[in-house]
Amino acid sequence: NNIIKVGLLGCGTVGTGVLKVLSQNMDEITPRVGAKLVVSHVLVRNLDKKREYADAVKFTDNINDILEDPEIKIVIELLGGLHPAREYMIQAMQAGKNIVTANKDVVAQFGKDMFDTAEANNVDFMFEASVAGGIPIITPLKQCLTANKITEVIGIVNGTTNYMLTKMSEENASYDAVLKDAQEKGYAEADPTADVEGLDAARKTAILASIAFNNRVSLNKVSTEGITHITPQDIAYAKELGYTIKLLSIAREDEKGIDVRVHPALLPQNHPLAFVRNEFNAIFVRGNVVGDTMFYGKGAGQLPTASAVVADVIDVARDIVKNRYGRIRCTCYEHKKFCPIEK
Ligand code: NDP
Ligand code: HSE
Repeated sequence: NNIIKVGLLGCGTVGTGVLKVLSQNMDEITPRVGAKLVVSHVLVRNLDKKREYADAVKFTDNINDILEDPEIKIVIELLGGLHPAREYMIQAMQAGKNIVTANKDVVAQFGKDMFDTAEANNVDFMFEASVAGGIPIITPLKQCLTANKITEVIGIVNGTTNYMLTKMSEENASYDAVLKDAQEKGYAEADPTADVEGLDAARKTAILASIAFNNRVSLNKVSTEGITHITPQDIAYAKELGYTIKLLSIAREDEKGIDVRVHPALLPQNHPLAFVRNEFNAIFVRGNVVGDTMFYGKGAGQLPTASAVVADVIDVARDIVKNRYGRIRCTCYEHKKFCPIEK
């Protein structure tokens, strides 16, 4: 029949965005998929919270409502954090469900487990939204740029800190006030320490480097410094000297090996990355045949992130419709050792 049932884990900033995008763009999405995507169950912690879309979907606090429903073919994981997100995704794949996630914690630390489980169960594991919110970057690296040897991936990959640095520089906003503002706007992680201490950007850097360099770059290889030590004086001096402070994610590969780092950097005010303001992100990718490419857009926030999540859902759903269900995708994340295409 023409319905594909979807289970949604989490209905916070991004989960609610997914319900919005699916409902707002249903007339565009249904013909593109060739079936109607219907979110049947939504897992949350607190059933007493007032929710949008309460009339359209069934909220539950029992994961088995989703895991044990054989009609649910796609599970979208938007809980955040490692646990129980990782376990739920593994259980869902073992139950034959495809996964779409925005969870960089799990992808950066347990990517191999996830890809192995997906392969073993002949399902897809998709994570476009895990890096840079609404900007397409995982799929371009995996597919569109795969003819290249990529030597550099450099950019701004955390929306919260970029928003904070922009407001601190342009409006003299205080660190605490602007962090609160970023949290209220839904840009920050549930625990914003991950944003301001650079860990969120480090997770994304590990994911990007792993895909770009066809190698497993573990999180602990990423040297990480956040923005917690940046003072208003640092920002004022930088400005006076013609510089802007940005939190950069840097991944390079040369004959000496792979260098992965996250740290604040002084950029000349006319540098292209200096123009990336607020919650926007930008990523330069240098390939040996394509040359330089740049990806730019909203790196955090409800609808931009939901845009990437729903795109992955559509991609998986199209495969289901075309009966190519469970085709093996080369994710390149574990390419050298594990890619089934190379065996
Ligand atoms: P929120 O904190 O806003 O939402 C989390 C949701 O998950 C809530 O609905 C919460 O339930 C539910 N939840 C959490 N733990 C459990 C649990 N143990 N059992 C059941 N339900 C649970 O997070 P976001 O929407 O901001 O982020 C979701 C994911 O997307 C994260 O991995 C994040 O890193 C990623 N992401 C976020 C972006 C953003 O801009 N916010 C951008 C890109 C990626 P309840 O509502 O009852 O509390
Ligand atoms: N907290 C993250 C950020 C969300 O600010 O970039 C998007 O991954």
